[in-house]
Amino acid sequence: MAKDVIIACDFSSKEQTLAFLDRFTGRKPFVKIGMELFYACGPDIVREIKARGHKIFLDLKLHDIPNTVRKAMSVLSHLDVDMTNVHAAGTVDMMRAALEGLTRPDGTRPLLIAVTQLTSTSEERMQRELLIGATINETIAKYAENAKTAGLDGVVCSPLEAELVKDNCGAEFMTVTPGIRFADAAADDQVRITTPACAREIGSDYIVVGRPVTAAEDPVAAYERCCREFIGE
Ligand code: C5P
Repeated sequence: MAKDVIIACDFSSKEQTLAFLDRFTGRKPFVKIGMELFYACGPDIVREIKARGHKIFLDLKLHDIPNTVRKAMSVLSHLDVDMTNVHAAGTVDMMRAALEGLTRPDGTRPLLIAVTQLTSTSEERMQRELLIGATINETIAKYAENAKTAGLDGVVCSPLEAELVKDNCGAEFMTVTPGIRFADAAADDQVRITTPACAREIGSDYIVVGRPVTAAEDPVAAYERCCREFIGE
């Protein structure tokens, strides 16, 4: 499976985002558009970034009743994104509905993955606040199995859990992993983190990197460092 670095463009305006992307004159990075940018700019920002030649992961993390998710995904299927996602906590039925909605009449669709547990969630918080008695790894393995049962292509998880997911769901089941920090940087609000080099060793297929690149003094150099450590190029 192709490995790549996805930059989380967590900006709140089109101008800021395009100015950021303009700095990349060589390779066109795979871009993640999340809630902040999508809610600020709407679907036009997706079209504009796509037209500039970037692959897009539309990270809206849908989580609602199956009918609502099916219809929302059907609307999103008209945007030419490469990958999008739901929360696995929405259940197998909801994930099946998402897949149905996302599939275009000609049978094509973007990759669909499910968030297992957010990388900002600790096991202690999950058990104390969400009253989930299992370990975090048990929930991640189960949520990944549910996503596979529903026919999804993979999951979003911490790189630290990529091996667990592959062991449970097979090598072809994709792992897209945020929670990436350079060895010499702050964790911010992330909890279950690792470096790009370590994510590569554990077997992530894609890493998602936000602030270590977007807030870097030299974002292009930080992105290239991620690529060197993760892809080796
Ligand atoms: O800035 P940072 O590298 O922490 O950004 C990580 C990105 O990945 C954010 O856009 C966040 O929404 C997203 N994400 C995450 N954990 C998940 C799923 C998505 O951090 N489980």
